[in-house]
Order: sequence, then C-alpha cells, then structure tokens
Amino acid sequence: MGAVAVILAAGEGKRMKSSTPKVAHSVLGEPMISLVVDAARRAGCERVVAVTGHGAEVVESLLDSDVETVRQEEQLGTGHAVMCAKAALKDFHGSLVLLSGDTPLLTVETIAGLVAMRESSGAAVTVLTTHVTDPVGYGRIVRDSGEGVAAIVEHKDLSPEQQHIDEINTGTYCFDAAVLFAHLDRLSTDNAQKEYYLTDMVSVFRSEGLLVSAMTTDDSLETLGVNSRVQLAEAGKVLQSRTNERHMLAGVTMIDPDLTWIGPDVEIARDVVLQPMTFLMGRTKIAEGASLGPNTRVTDSSIGAGAVVDSSVVVSSEVGSNASVGPVAYLRPGTKLGPGSKAGTSVEIKNSTVGEGSKVPHLSYIGDAEIGNGVNVGAGTITCNYDGKSKYGTVIEDGAFIGSDTMLIAPVRIGPGATTGAASAIAHDVPEGALGIERSEQRNINGWAEKKQREREKD
Ligand code: UD1
Ligand code: CA
Repeated sequence: MGAVAVILAAGEGKRMKSSTPKVAHSVLGEPMISLVVDAARRAGCERVVAVTGHGAEVVESLLDSDVETVRQEEQLGTGHAVMCAKAALKDFHGSLVLLSGDTPLLTVETIAGLVAMRESSGAAVTVLTTHVTDPVGYGRIVRDSGEGVAAIVEHKDLSPEQQHIDEINTGTYCFDAAVLFAHLDRLSTDNAQKEYYLTDMVSVFRSEGLLVSAMTTDDSLETLGVNSRVQLAEAGKVLQSRTNERHMLAGVTMIDPDLTWIGPDVEIARDVVLQPMTFLMGRTKIAEGASLGPNTRVTDSSIGAGAVVDSSVVVSSEVGSNASVGPVAYLRPGTKLGPGSKAGTSVEIKNSTVGEGSKVPHLSYIGDAEIGNGVNVGAGTITCNYDGKSKYGTVIEDGAFIGSDTMLIAPVRIGPGATTGAASAIAHDVPEGALGIERSEQRNINGWAEKKQREREKD
C-alpha cells in the first residue's frame, strides 16, 4: 500500500512579517505548500493531508482538490497538529510521511528513501537528520552509546552539554501510522515552549522498546526551512540553480544561468537558447530550437520549434513553430500565432488567431480577431473591438492586405485577398478581392508657403 503524507501548514510564520500565511509565499513562482505537495505525490504518497490553521482559506485555495485538509484551530505545537489529522487517518496502516509546508527544497529521492528505509527496518519512525555549521534554533539529535537516536531535544530545552550537538532534526519523518496514532496521547506540554512537541515521539517510542532509526542527508540545503524572507530568497536561488542545471544537462543553452528563472513545471526541449533575464513560469512548454530573450517573460504558454521571442511578454498564449515575436510584443491570454507568423515591434495581441505566415510587424493592437493565412497587417493597424460596453470580433480572411493605420471598427469582416487603404476607418465588410477605402480626397494648395510668408510680413 502506498504511503500517506501529512503536511504541517498551520503556523503563522511570524518572522515573515507578512499578512500572507508563510506556506503561501512563492518560490520560483510556486507557493511553497504546492512544491511540498508535489514532491510528496511524486515520491509515491497516494493521499496527502494538509493541516491548516493560520490563513487556512488562503492556504486551502492553493491546494488541488485531491489534497485533503484538516483544520488546527489553535496552534499548540507540531504534535498537536498531528493529533488534528488522527481522525482522518485512523484506519490507515502503513507509512506516514510527515513534512513541513515551509521546507520547499526537499527532493523526491529523499522522501522515497526515507519511506524505503523505515519499511525495510520496521522502525516506528525514521527521522531525517543533517549536520549544519549553525544549529541554533533547531531540534538536536541526541545519540545513545550505540549510535541509535535516543531523543530529539528542542533548542530551547537543551542542557549545557547538548549545546555543541550539530546534528539536527530536519522536521521530516516517516512514521508507522498506526504506531504513531496509538502513542500520540503520551505527548505533554511539559517543556520550554509549553507546546506538544512531535519530536518527543522519539523518546516515547524508545521507552516502549520500539525501534527508532535515522537517515542522514549531507545536503543540508535540501532541508532548509523557510522562516524569513532572507531564507525565502535563499530557497529561490537553490531551486533556480537546481532547475537550471537539470535543463542545461538536458541540452538547453543558458547564456547566464544566474539571470535565467524557470519555474519547476516548465518543459524545455533540446537546443533551446535562453538569453539573460528570461523568466519562464507556470505551465509553459518550449519546443526544440526556440530562442528566447533577452528580457522576456513567458507564463502558461507554449512556444513552437524554432520560434524567436525577443524582449516580450507572453501570457496564456500559443506561439507556432518558426514564428517571430518582438522586440517588445505583448501577447495576452488567448493569442494563437500560426507557424511562421510574426507579431513584431510594439504589437499587442489578445484573444486572437494569426494564421500561418501572417504578419503583424509594427505598432498594432489586435483584439478578438481571427486572421487567416498569408495576411499582412500594416503598421499602426488597430482593431476597435470595444465600444465601452461590449467586445466585438474582427475577421480578416486569407491573403488580405491591411493598409497602414487602418482602424477596423468591429464587428467587421475583410474578405479573402481584399485590401484596405491606408488610414481608412473600416466600419463595413470588404468583399473578396475588393479595396475598402475610407479617406477624404487630398487637396494641394499651390503657393501656400509664399502666401503665408506675405501675410506675416504685413502684420
Ligand atoms: C521544528 C522541530 C525541530 C526541527 C525544525 C526543523 C518540533 C517541536 N520541532 O521546529 O526539531 O529542528 O522543525 O525545521 O517539531 N506547525 C503547525 N502547527 C503548530 C506548530 C507548527 O502546523 O501548532 C507547522 C508550522 O506551520 C511549520 C511546521 O509545523 O510548517 C514546523 O513548525 P515550526 O514552528 O516552524 O517548528 P520549529 O520551531 O522550526
Ligand atoms: Ca520551522
């Protein structure tokens, strides 16, 4: 049977100095709690139970619907938080992985390794420990003469002889669920913080003659608990370099990895080149050979093979293969650029389709439009899609040529192969192959400059 994960996420996180609950703060664009849930799932935990309390509504709104939640109304300690999950898990037998919502760097391998170690040793609990140079604030691992774990002592409860211990409790454990719940009521608040310490389960188990084991990781960065904004930034840096390294080893070129930020769920194919100050976030997919940046932000979008995106912002959009975006384009949600198409300089497109090989090269706003294949949209063209109350669509059919500075007053349709005259305000459909022109005749007044000069001299 698969393991369950219990994620402690009820604490306030006072040191964050924030009105947002700690675990809702983001690392690389993803809330910490989501990163922890994701790691637990990928490590094979079939059920995930989050204990929420402080800012519970906010935290719960970040969780997928398949994550169970239990409330801890008053935060009486980590042991108390687990008591709150007991009712939900009382019939479960097997491994219970206990994680903190503020430990976003823990890897899938470490969680899976912890479960495997407990299950093969038959221990009541396996504790994940690590050695750090500055153990201040952490619970310390007290070993017995046989190198077994005798107890975990919180920083505030250390005796003078225990101060030097540099092996710490990471706050990550794998318990035998039934054994844990059978002994939870043995916890008391008889300690420096007057809290129910989950860490006291170790001495409880030992006094019952139950086996306690430890797994020690030498990557202490992985177990970094985020308590302040300084540690939040540190976690971001660690996750950034871990993510970037994975992509570089898989064939992605980064000119400057320190200046390249990629969210954990982004997929990038081989031979993609990322220039500095490129931010790829959310559910984004980049196909082979695309080139992005510098100064580019892509969120929840797909970029086709060989496409080029330069100094642009792309949100919830699809860019076709070999398409060209920018410099300085803004593709807003619902934009679909066909293969080989172009959204050029200072072009904004929203909720629109641009067909294969069609070009919107300069200074345009395209909204709620359907543009066919092989269309050229002249500089300064604007779809007037909004009358202050409602939005209307524009259709431009295959092979049409839109003259520069055309105002397309929607709803309007430009037929296949039709042309609009430059500077026209087009409020009526233009039939196939026709020229739509709306422009007053030009008058030239001969000798105007000289006449003006004479008038000035008279004054
Ligand atoms: C805890 C451990 C400590 C360990 C450290 C590692 C205990 C008693 N101590 O200390 O040994 O070295 O983690 O980072 O467990 N939480 C709740 N409800 C509560 C209290 C806490 O949900 O009533 C949650 C917090 O939101 C947090 C996690 O539990 O996600 C850890 O709590 P925190 O107060 O940060 O514990 P530490 O003092 O860091
Ligand atoms: Ca902590």
